Amino acid sequence: MDYENINIGLAGFGNIGSYFYKILEKNKKDIYIKTGKIPNIKYISARNITKKRKIKIPRKKWVKNFIDLSKKDDVDIIVELIGGSDGPAKKLVFSALKNKKHVITANKALMSKHGDELGHLAEKNEVNLEYEASVAGGVPIIRSIKEGLIANKINKIYGILNGTTNYILSSMERKNKSFNEILNKAKKLGFAETNPISDLNGSDSASKLRILSSIAFNKSISKNKILTEGIQNINLTDILYAKSLGYKIKLLSISEVKKNKLMERVHPCLILKNSYIAKIDGVLNAVVVDGSPIGKSVLQGEGAGPGPTSSAIISDLCTVLKGEVNYPFGVSFSERKKISKFDILNHFCSSYLRIEVKDQPGVLSSITKIFAKNKISIKNLIQKPNKKNKKASIIIITHENIEKNFNNLLLHLVKNKFVLKKPTFIRIETV
Ligand SMILES: NC(=O)c1ccc[n+]([C@@H]2O[C@H](COP(=O)([O-])OP(=O)(O)OC[C@H]3O[C@@H](n4cnc5c(N)ncnc54)[C@H](OP(=O)(O)O)[C@@H]3O)[C@@H](O)[C@H]2O)c1
Repeated sequence: MDYENINIGLAGFGNIGSYFYKILEKNKKDIYIKTGKIPNIKYISARNITKKRKIKIPRKKWVKNFIDLSKKDDVDIIVELIGGSDGPAKKLVFSALKNKKHVITANKALMSKHGDELGHLAEKNEVNLEYEASVAGGVPIIRSIKEGLIANKINKIYGILNGTTNYILSSMERKNKSFNEILNKAKKLGFAETNPISDLNGSDSASKLRILSSIAFNKSISKNKILTEGIQNINLTDILYAKSLGYKIKLLSISEVKKNKLMERVHPCLILKNSYIAKIDGVLNAVVVDGSPIGKSVLQGEGAGPGPTSSAIISDLCTVLKGEVNYPFGVSFSERKKISKFDILNHFCSSYLRIEVKDQPGVLSSITKIFAKNKISIKNLIQKPNKKNKKASIIIITHENIEKNFNNLLLHLVKNKFVLKKPTFIRIETV
């Protein structure tokens, strides 16, 4: 490494890569004042280097094969902004760490799948592996857990880790519009990708949650099958019923250690509408860290987009420029043990159910009997008849019970002769 000038090989010049380049060029002087080093993007690689781009890049900077970036003697840091858990991103990051280059990545898919191996390699070769942008975009949650909250034993970490789904749910409620209407608007505004499936089905949040739990609890990244439910089946009707009962529906990612076992889950939740998290609307993300001695600490902000993501990448860059080689996951690889999985069937919560039934005599007693048979007691019940269609909606808030009993309840409800379709079941979360 040169005394003052640090050379970067940038892989990926899309949404994030091109913005990062622009903002880094603009902020070089400030970065020098703060770190004593001048970062210089020496080489760039992308899939198609002849593609017409908004930013003009001198020809000599382009490198045809991305993997060559990791082999060049005059590159100190690789910034990986290609994406994907395997393929070129994985190949590049492994090669860079093997060649003792520092690595900065915004890639949650890669980190949640290969983070342990990559972290181990970085630690062995005494280089940085930084990935602040991989979770909650501009919200500095990773560095906060590893550094600002280092004194704490964290019991639980939860929040909204996906801006697209939060935008959809909050806009459905505010604008009184259906899921599809709002999803189309989100695509037009650039808040949802053309293929937003990994956002909608909760898998994007689940990848981020795996990374967070690993740092929060000092464990290796869980390979467990996480309870993952998305928002595709959330209906405006449920949002409005929830509202009338004093709740909001949010897609929460929740991780906690219970009886020395890890429980990670991503699913829509009814939460009290005056709770802090309920007020996080639009594309914002928010993460609550519940630890001791701090209590509950909240970080919120923009969870995606070129600006917030570049902010996080530059913060990683400054860590590297300052020469702070840290353990990638806060503690050394040998300290990060596996943790077994908490059996989700024993998870305890209350719930909201909407059951669509035929409007006939005897329906209510038939339905409530199924609840009694499955040992689930009802806290609140509303029946809304739709005389014209000879149908009715039964909305039920239950007392707390275990997941296993709720599963059985749903199996029995579906088989009941009055029930018209699979009931909507949403867990109620105390936050
Ligand atoms: N977008 C966000 O708001 C956001 C937020 C947080 C984290 N991230 C993460 O940031 C990373 C980049 O996201 P993005 O939105 O910038 O993606 P993007 O716009 O699709 O850009 C991907 C870049 O990678 C290049 N690329 C693709 N395949 C390649 C290959 N085989 N070899 C070399 N280069 C290749 C593409 O080249 P071409 O330009 O030639 O097509 C493009 O420049 C991802 O890991 C993503 O999860 C994104």
